[in-house]
Amino acid sequence: MAQPKVYTDTLTYVLQKFEDGLNVVLTSKYNPFYYHGALPQFFLWVLFLSGLLLFAYYVPTIDNAYSSERLINAFTSVDYITNQIPFGAVVRGVHRYAGDAMVLTIVLHALRVWWTDRYRQYRWLQWFSGIVLLGLVLFIGQTGYYLVWDERSLVLTRMTVYAFDALPVIGPGLKAWFVNGEAITNLTLSNYLFIHIGLSFFLLFGLWIHYVRMARPVVTPPPVVNYAMMAILMVVVFMFPINMGQMAHLTQQPSTFEIDWFFLWPYAMLSSLDPIVFWTVMVGLTVFFSILPVPFLTSGLSGQTLQPIDAAEVVLSKCTGCSLCDKDCPYEAIEMVPAPAGSRFKLLATVLPYRCSSCGLCVGACAFDAIDLPFMPDAEVTNKIKSLLAQS
Ligand code: HEM
Ligand code: SF4
Ligand code: SF4
Repeated sequence: MAQPKVYTDTLTYVLQKFEDGLNVVLTSKYNPFYYHGALPQFFLWVLFLSGLLLFAYYVPTIDNAYSSERLINAFTSVDYITNQIPFGAVVRGVHRYAGDAMVLTIVLHALRVWWTDRYRQYRWLQWFSGIVLLGLVLFIGQTGYYLVWDERSLVLTRMTVYAFDALPVIGPGLKAWFVNGEAITNLTLSNYLFIHIGLSFFLLFGLWIHYVRMARPVVTPPPVVNYAMMAILMVVVFMFPINMGQMAHLTQQPSTFEIDWFFLWPYAMLSSLDPIVFWTVMVGLTVFFSILPVPFLTSGLSGQTLQPIDAAEVVLSKCTGCSLCDKDCPYEAIEMVPAPAGSRFKLLATVLPYRCSSCGLCVGACAFDAIDLPFMPDAEVTNKIKSLLAQS
C-alpha cells in the first residue's frame, strides 16, 4: 500500500486538531465542520429571499427613459434600491455577500470531501454534479454583476463578448445568445435577468442530482448555526457597504473596475491572457477537477489508496422483502423489486453494486441474515457495528 505523503499527514493532523478544538468550544452539534454541505445550501436560501426583494424594484433596461422626470433604467433602479428604499442597501449587501459566502463555503465543502477522501467510487456523481454546480454558481454570480449596469457591467459584458468572439465555430452563436442579438440593447439586460434567475432555479435541479444518491444528506444547519452565519453576514454588510459606481454609457470604454475575487477572477485572468489560452485554462481546470475521482489519479493526489469494493449480496432464499435494509442504506444502493411469481413475499431486496460502499449497515439492519458482505461473515459485521455503536 502506498505511504501517505508527509504534507498530507501534517495537514490532516492540523485540520483534525482544529476540528477537535471547535468541538470543545462549540460542541459537535454546532461545529460548522459538520455542516460544510448544508452551509452553501443555507446561503442559497438567503440569496433566493434577498433576490426576490431586489427583483421587486429592478428594471432590466439600459435606455434612458424618463418617468415623472426620473430617469428609469437598470442602473437607476439599483440606485433607487440602494439609496431610497428603506433597508434596500442592506438587502443588496446581504444578496452580494451571501453570494460570496456561498462560493467560499462551496470551496471549503469541496476541499473537505476531497481531504477526507469522500468523493470517489460510489460518490463520483456527488463530486461531478458538485463541479457543475460550482460552475453554475460562478456564472450566476457573474450575471448578477452585469445586471447593475454600471461601468463594471459594461466592461464585463465587452470582455465576455471578446472571449466568445475568439472561439471558433460556437463563438458567434454564444455571443448572439449572450447579448440577445447583434449588439448590446435593452434585450441584453432582460437576457441577463432571465439567465440570472432561470439558472438559479436550475441550481435546485442540480442539487437534486447532487443529493439523489444520499439517503440522509445533511442539508440544514441547526438554527443556532444559521443565526451565527446571518450575524456574521450582517457585520460584513455594515462594515463594507456596497456603493454605486458610475452608470454605463455605451459610447464610453471604462478601463478599470473593482474586482470581486469570489466571482470575477476569470475576468482578471482574461485581462492578462490571450482569449484562446484563457479558454484552454478554464476547460483544462474543469476537466482536471471533474476527473479527480478517476481511480488512477486519486492515490497520487490525496496520498491514499483505493480499496476494492465488494458489494453486499442478498441471499434471496432468506429475504422477506421487509425493506429494512433499503431504509438503512446511506447510499440508496438497495432497491426493492417485485418478487418472482409464486414467492410468499411481495418484494425482494437487490443491491446495486456500483452504488454500494460495503459499509455493512444493511447487514446489521437485516433480522433474517439475508444480506452478506462477501469478504466478512454476517456475525463479524454485526459485532463490528455493535462495537462502533458502543464507542459513539
Ligand atoms: C451549490 C453547491 C453545493 C451544495 C449546496 C452542496 C451540498 C451538499 C450537501 C448538503 C451534501 C451532504 C453532506 C452531508 O450529508 O454530510 C453534499 C455532499 C457532497 N458534496 Fe456537495 N454541495 C455543493 C457543491 C459541491 C461541490 C462543488 C463538490 C465538489 C466538487 C461537492 C462534492 C460533494 C461530495 C463528494 C459529497 C458526498 C460527501 C459524503 O458522502 O460525505 N459538492 N453536498
Ligand atoms: S432487511 Fe433482509 S429480509 Fe428485509 S428486505 Fe433487506 S435483505 Fe430482505
Ligand atoms: S453495504 Fe449495504 S448499506 Fe452499505 S452501501 Fe452497500 S448496500 Fe448500502
